Amino acid sequence: MLEVVTYGNEILEQKAEPVTEFDEQLAETIAQMFEAMKRDHGIGLAAPQVALKKRLFITDVEGDKRRVFINPEIIMTSPELSEYEEGCLSFPGLYFVVKRPASVTIQAYNEKGKPFTLDADGLLARVIQHEYDHLEGKLFIDRIPPMRRERALLHYRRLVKM
Ligand code: NI
Repeated sequence: MLEVVTYGNEILEQKAEPVTEFDEQLAETIAQMFEAMKRDHGIGLAAPQVALKKRLFITDVEGDKRRVFINPEIIMTSPELSEYEEGCLSFPGLYFVVKRPASVTIQAYNEKGKPFTLDADGLLARVIQHEYDHLEGKLFIDRIPPMRRERALLHYRRLVKM
């Protein structure tokens, strides 16, 4: 069973490595990631969040199908930005508004190794960017101004009694 790791675990701040084998083990990892995400009521989960240093994330956004993104590249972002209150399974209980491009185009491989391109907007575009950041070792607290970041971390440390 894969468990979600939380802030403080150094893997969350490391760059993940490309997936090279599209095999049974990968399929099993993906199935277990969907289970872990469901258990924690998430709408997106990246492999580093279950302590796997792999360029892979999944999404399950309401009104959309479940999606798997392997070795993804965000190839275009809209100049238009949007603001939305984000949470992260690796920061339980912490929510704050993050500004990001409103839409993105992403290229990735599915679990069978088939490449695809997807244009996303709304909540899906938001989740894709948040999860993609995890593969780069970047966290949502890194996407807000330093003062707000300090306050958010202080609040989080109080929440989890770190
Ligand atoms: Ni997250």
